[in-house]
Amino acid sequence: MAHRWTNDLTLADATPEAAFMNRRQIMAGMAGMGLATMAGGAQADEGLTPNTWDEVTSYCNFYEFGTGKGDPSANAHLMTTSPWSVEIDGLVDKPGSYSMKDILSAMTLEERIYRFRCVEAWSMVIPWQGFELADLLNMAGVQEGAKYVAFETLLRPSEMPGTAYRVIDWPYREGLRLDEAMHPLTIMATGIFGKPLPNQNGAPLRLVVPWKYGFKSIKSVVKITLTDKEPPTSWNMANAREYGFYSNVNPQVDHPRWSQASEKRIGGGLFAKRQPSLMFNGYEEEVAGMYEGMNLAKHF
Ligand code: MTE
Repeated sequence: MAHRWTNDLTLADATPEAAFMNRRQIMAGMAGMGLATMAGGAQADEGLTPNTWDEVTSYCNFYEFGTGKGDPSANAHLMTTSPWSVEIDGLVDKPGSYSMKDILSAMTLEERIYRFRCVEAWSMVIPWQGFELADLLNMAGVQEGAKYVAFETLLRPSEMPGTAYRVIDWPYREGLRLDEAMHPLTIMATGIFGKPLPNQNGAPLRLVVPWKYGFKSIKSVVKITLTDKEPPTSWNMANAREYGFYSNVNPQVDHPRWSQASEKRIGGGLFAKRQPSLMFNGYEEEVAGMYEGMNLAKHF
């Protein structure tokens, strides 16, 4: 398989307590699942303390299940994730309902170990499994006039207690510019730590855009629409002054209510020093070109 991306983090950055097998076992285990691992040029970030399975799965944002960090892990088991299908529509050649089974049989799963930086200024390093969003969009056939991609999360109030509260205008919606969506770093994740995604992390399929604040990485996606207009997005609709459409990680552009210059690494301990945040969350080399000539303070 062509290597379109080079990992700069190793599993040592990502976590693995004993429960998370060792790398060789993962690769062996995944070979059976048709999973290829991206290798090469691994250079660990200095000073990163590993995250654990428990941290990644118990400290979550998934407001459909409540606004507390522990609410998603307590409530997300209520969500039925099988059967699951994704409606792909708008400016595509083959619009329709794609079952999870059809999607998985057409995609090659890979492992991606990414920094994950929440707009609330905490961060983790997470080993995802998934496939490039570009491959899914190409399967549906992106038409000439498409410029943006819009995403929607499942809205099923009977299984999502948090949706009884109008914290945001449900369903949770997100969007990307087409070039961002087609970028090789942008993936649809189906697993973490070599296991299927837990519901609280966005099962069975969630977006991961590692150079943007975490709220862009929409969970439990049921709809993808190719469009020629910038789509409305949940946090931008809720508060446009605080949350822009782009929401690229940028330590030089503060949130109106707090600094984005540094972040708290989850799992670093009570007295751990905050670490400086990186431009585009450390993916500047790969993605800065897409924003050349743009005023990033204005298009935040
Ligand atoms: N997707 C949906 N549908 N609902 C949400 O509340 N929260 C976002 C994002 N995706 C959210 C969502 C935010 S603010 C963050 S930081 C990440 O999910 C958290 O992902 P994690 O819980 O897997 O770390």
